[in-house]
Amino acid sequence: MKILVLGSGGREHALCWKLRQSPRVTDIFCAPGNAGTESLGRNVPIPVTDIDALAAFAAGEGIGLTVVGPDDALAAGIVDTFQRRGLRVFGPSKEGARFESSKAFAKRFMERHGIPTARFGEFTDSAEAHLFCQKMQYPVVIKADGLALGKGVIIAQNAEQAAMAIYRIMDQCQFGEAGRRIVIEEFLTGEECSIHAMVDGRSFAMFPGAQDHKRAFDGDQGLNTGGMGAYSPAPILTPELERQVREQVLEPFVRGLEADRLAFKGLLYPGIMVTPHGLKVLEFNCRFGDPETQAFLPRLKTDLVEVMDAVIDGRLADCALEWRDEAAVCVVMASGGYPGAYEKGKDIRGIEAAESDSAVTVFQAGTRRLETRLLTAGGRVLGVTAMGPDVRAARAKAYAAVEKIDFEGAHYRRDIAAKGLRG
Ligand code: AMP
Ligand code: GLY
Repeated sequence: MKILVLGSGGREHALCWKLRQSPRVTDIFCAPGNAGTESLGRNVPIPVTDIDALAAFAAGEGIGLTVVGPDDALAAGIVDTFQRRGLRVFGPSKEGARFESSKAFAKRFMERHGIPTARFGEFTDSAEAHLFCQKMQYPVVIKADGLALGKGVIIAQNAEQAAMAIYRIMDQCQFGEAGRRIVIEEFLTGEECSIHAMVDGRSFAMFPGAQDHKRAFDGDQGLNTGGMGAYSPAPILTPELERQVREQVLEPFVRGLEADRLAFKGLLYPGIMVTPHGLKVLEFNCRFGDPETQAFLPRLKTDLVEVMDAVIDGRLADCALEWRDEAAVCVVMASGGYPGAYEKGKDIRGIEAAESDSAVTVFQAGTRRLETRLLTAGGRVLGVTAMGPDVRAARAKAYAAVEKIDFEGAHYRRDIAAKGLRG
């Protein structure tokens, strides 16, 4: 079977890497891909937003399964277009992707189906939004309803910051259409935990726990990024919390789908805050996390093609996901200056040396080949992943591998998975 993976990040390199291991897969294509995906198959220079061109390519090439990486393609309805053309595709429809593409839609769904989440208000009128803030305790969290490249969440410490955020999002249209509607919610404290679950519309299969590191610098300092590293398993997901996630989030989620007659087939990734008053869902993502995927997939024993087939055909209940009993740690190496402005085109050296340890896989994100050179081409450049008998061992191997790799300006956090060492 020929596979097409859409996207160009570390997540997509990891998906190609895992799918390549399926005995059913003959060829891998990635659009547009990066230098890492190119080493596993063929890159196709079509952007993920050009849905018609991608569908035409998949039809012409006889692609047996297309896997959609990024949220914007899902929100634009790529799955619906592929399905209309009789093409097999993994990911939620445009309607299902609204759990991520509209925060207000997700909040209303949670409210309707008793899924714990922060108290909130929803506004399309900035005057009403200002009034609502007057009744809130600070800090408050102000969110653009739509997709805003991960930048649409503002934590306002006081009335002045809240007023400024509302003005920027709603009146100055900082995030364009995505900010026509906003959600304002109470600020929660606690520790965050990423949950991933395959969902086929009726049943779900939950992944082990993982934790992402969103801030740029050690000790959760600096700006928010796409994610500077991840590890799995994460001790924050205790068996008790896992039970709560099943009973309070995933079971009501699939029951809610049926009650509301909503279709959702794909990967559901709820962001969860473990607060002193129990767990609360911060948001739903409808796609694999990046870099969580780089930590999950090396642990997955089951053939990913089998799992995706089961989701598409609605028979997930018959498909057991098996996980290696080892831990995985992924350390992201980013370009100097990321998540702010950064330079590209720096030579990357040392990947082979890093991978000489068979426990290490270097997933590439912002990279490109120029003849024999491997160059940086994005903010997050590499996801250096190592496996080990436990988080401590995997972490030591990941950092030893990072030490062998270099490109000008490279920066990475030195405390990835540090929280995973306890317990
Ligand atoms: P979201 O895109 O909704 O997950 O928000 C991005 C990040 O903002 C989350 O990972 C949290 O760190 C933070 N965040 C979102 N909502 C809240 C909240 N209600 N209270 C505290 N932090 C939040
Ligand atoms: N790990 C953060 C994200 O994928 O959104």
